[in-house]
Amino acid sequence: MSNYIFSNHDTVALAKKYDTPLYVISEDIIEKNATSIQRAFARSGVDYEINYAGKAFLNTAMCKIIHRLGLSLDVVSGGELYTAMQAGFPREKICFHGSNKSIEEIRMAFETKVGKIVADSEYELHLLNDLAGEYEHKPEILVRVSPGIEAHTHEYVQTGRIDSKFGIPLRNMESVMGEAGKYDKLSIVGLHCHIGSQIFDDRPFLIASETMLKLLKQLEEKGYYLEQLNLGGGFGIPYLKDDAVFDIDAYIDDLVTFIRTKSEELSLKFPKLLVEPGRYIIGPAGITLYEIGTVKEVPHTRKYVSVDGGMTDNPRPALYNALYHAVIANKTSFEEEEEELVTISGRCCETDTLISDVVLPRCEAGDILAVLNTGAYNYSMASNYNRIPRPAVVLLKGDQDQLIVERETYDDLLLKDRLPDWYAS
Ligand SMILES: Cc1ncc(COP(=O)(O)O)c(C=O)c1O
Repeated sequence: MSNYIFSNHDTVALAKKYDTPLYVISEDIIEKNATSIQRAFARSGVDYEINYAGKAFLNTAMCKIIHRLGLSLDVVSGGELYTAMQAGFPREKICFHGSNKSIEEIRMAFETKVGKIVADSEYELHLLNDLAGEYEHKPEILVRVSPGIEAHTHEYVQTGRIDSKFGIPLRNMESVMGEAGKYDKLSIVGLHCHIGSQIFDDRPFLIASETMLKLLKQLEEKGYYLEQLNLGGGFGIPYLKDDAVFDIDAYIDDLVTFIRTKSEELSLKFPKLLVEPGRYIIGPAGITLYEIGTVKEVPHTRKYVSVDGGMTDNPRPALYNALYHAVIANKTSFEEEEEELVTISGRCCETDTLISDVVLPRCEAGDILAVLNTGAYNYSMASNYNRIPRPAVVLLKGDQDQLIVERETYDDLLLKDRLPDWYAS
């Protein structure tokens, strides 16, 4: 019986070599996904920049990959910025984001001389303006707008609505921005919006870009000549076998044609276009391998198949009801009569269902389960709930496999524990 192959690697052999649970990331798939966006933009002939959204998956090896592929990097915290700097990522290609940056983080961004900062609120614009005077380096500033577009996706990840903590509401933009020169220490070069995640339809992006172009025009009348438009990330990926596929070529073609037409109508210079995909690049490039333990049949109800990980390494099903597909890596060919409908459970002290109702070949203790498309927002959202050490991450490239994050140990869990004097004897 042949094993499940991911990116030309035998996943059962990987599970044996590195133990489970294990995140497996394919550099070849990252490259394929990133270059598909680059090619689509290059064909369109416009000025563009692709910022990989580090929040989806980031560590020093990922920074190296992103740099090798010629992408820029979007970071949202001092920790992500520190990771990028430690990896030697070019500072001028870093864009510093975040909805409530601390003063220390803003100072860190100025001191590390990042290329861009996205101001998320009026408060941040003032803060940036006050602090900018202390630094010679002038990062390009983009202003994040909440354009009030509803993208068809899960409610918790709709970030472009007016009722959103992110960005400056569209209707407040004119008064917040005032006349050009109001933020006299800042080099404000563009606008930003992000309308949500896991979007398959390009219409919401087009509507958002029209809104943003009109805003660029309004601001031009106030003396702002803003030449960059960042439309965020959010390109969807198929998690399940029958899910749609986001057509990146059609999206970029439609977007560029649409923006060209609208810019002409508004007598606006075609702006430099920026996008910030995370999931599209890294999501399909990752799988998680688990070992199956307890298999429990609740008569006339369901069969629970428990694995040695759970919401600690993948909190998305619990957070967003996110859906995943899985295969039994050591049972890829089987007869129909061997199939069963099961629910995959984690090992945490919650009902941490990873996948409800998936058809798999008969599951037994010791089988290796591969959950697919776990590259985005799994490792980066993992926790130590129940004092469970986080899994290792192994990177595949061609026929090579190597650890890029070591498995946490029990000692790692104690690393920051301190005993108060009254117990330290
Ligand atoms: C501002 C911003 N940019 C980019 C992204 C990346 O989104 P995705 O991974 O869906 O492409 C996010 C995700 O939350 C975001 O909030």
